[in-house]
Amino acid sequence: MSTPKLSLTGNKPAEVTALAVDTLVVGTIQGPDGPSLAPGADAVDEALDGHLLDLLITLGATGKADEVVKLPTLGKVAATVVLAAGLGKPGAGGAINAEQVRRASGAAARAMAGVKRAGTVLSTIDLGAAVEGVVLGAYRFDRYKSSTNGDQPVGRVDLVSPAEGTAKDHKNTLKAATAIAESVTFARDLINTPPNDLFPASFAQRAAELAGANGVEVEILDEKALRKEGYGGIIGVGSGSTRPPRLVRLRYRGAKPKAKVALVGKGVTFDTGGISLKPAGGMDQMTSDMSGAAAVVATVVLAAKLKYPLEVTATVPMAENMPSGTAYRPGDVLTMYGGKTVEVLNTDAEGRLILADAIVRACQDDPDYLIETSTLTGAQLVALGSRTAGVMGSDEFRDRVAGIARSSGEGGWAMPLPDELRAELDSKLADLANVAGQRWAGMLVAGVFLREFVAEGVQWAHVDVAGPAFNTGGPWGYTGKGGTGVPVRTMAAVLADIAANG
Ligand code: BES
Ligand code: MN
Ligand code: ZN
Repeated sequence: MSTPKLSLTGNKPAEVTALAVDTLVVGTIQGPDGPSLAPGADAVDEALDGHLLDLLITLGATGKADEVVKLPTLGKVAATVVLAAGLGKPGAGGAINAEQVRRASGAAARAMAGVKRAGTVLSTIDLGAAVEGVVLGAYRFDRYKSSTNGDQPVGRVDLVSPAEGTAKDHKNTLKAATAIAESVTFARDLINTPPNDLFPASFAQRAAELAGANGVEVEILDEKALRKEGYGGIIGVGSGSTRPPRLVRLRYRGAKPKAKVALVGKGVTFDTGGISLKPAGGMDQMTSDMSGAAAVVATVVLAAKLKYPLEVTATVPMAENMPSGTAYRPGDVLTMYGGKTVEVLNTDAEGRLILADAIVRACQDDPDYLIETSTLTGAQLVALGSRTAGVMGSDEFRDRVAGIARSSGEGGWAMPLPDELRAELDSKLADLANVAGQRWAGMLVAGVFLREFVAEGVQWAHVDVAGPAFNTGGPWGYTGKGGTGVPVRTMAAVLADIAANG
């Protein structure tokens, strides 16, 4: 919730050894014959008479990712403790990539809970990645704890400047990376807010507040406007809840926009399954069913902060999927925004219904690209696990988004939308049904359903983050328990790529 105070500092050996911090972070690299020191650690090593690596090995260091080894310095440098963070195995030619720096910085930040002032030399390898790792690793969500029992995130981190580039470059990198990381923590805060406090109206209000504070235009359609304008998917899914649905539209118009990009994200503030009720075990995790919405809200605001030369419009449907006397039923036929009809065979396949409305609305603006992201199917977890998003859509853009997802470190893999699956969605009553007659390829079936609502000519990608959006396992790298903020960094990088290359 609160970012550590970050500042840049000099990289001369005497400046590094004189850093008056509690903990100084260095990197270790995993090799076939044991660990080695990563670039940036030499000044500390010299101050310890060349014994830094030996000492770390004695303490069990191997250099593997997520490893943290602490060593008291006995006054040999100004820092009290040296913390060695494992970067893992190097790539071809000994290269350490950005994600390795991000993860090691995140693991170090998690291990520095309670530390008031820290320094890091990992920033000499990749400043932006070190900043993102520190901010994301230091993140915690303690708004609902009456006491934090002294568990405070690291208070301040001095980042040793890289050798290449000017002081101005470094300042800009620090600023941009901080903005990116804070967008991710904003998304995490929304996801981690429990569903009794985050429901469509309150979610819309928080999105509007952030957007307004950053010069992003806001439009909110309430249940009356939604009904009047024929948003049958959003109204249908939201009808079981006493807390009515919303459609939020956020628009950022950069100067001389090079392209128009539409973002859409699933905002189911809680998914009980509705009348097709989910089993009780693990249902609490459905507080994360608005992760796609949180990510697109964070991303459009980030585009404004970073002044991308683009027009970016987020269209964000928000609804709570509840069973009740007013709920929609299996068997209902909904008329979606734009007129297509859908037979509901399972009220737990609700995401695609609110998304269909939002996608049709987004396409009315005639965007060049559309990125939609959602915690859409359990089948995504079956196919790709908890850390790899499934990316579907038009062939070229899908591959571009999947590639950028991997280079951003968030992870993603291109998946097909086989034409033969469309027949599985044939309905005897309506234009299509919301679920297939068989259980195979559930992730792809959902993508095939969404494709029916994307306008011709729009290059689009559907990013299913059912697993990656919410960490139900232990912390790793810069990712704690709960909301992860995936795929904010992927979408930000896709926008940057479109701004640069069209
Ligand atoms: N929100 C769920 C998908 C989900 C599952 C997200 C696990 C995160 C973790 C979605 O609304 C859902 O219930 N999907 C159904 C679709 C089925 C009824 C066709 C599913 O995946 O079981
Ligand atoms: Mn569902
Ligand atoms: Zn859902």
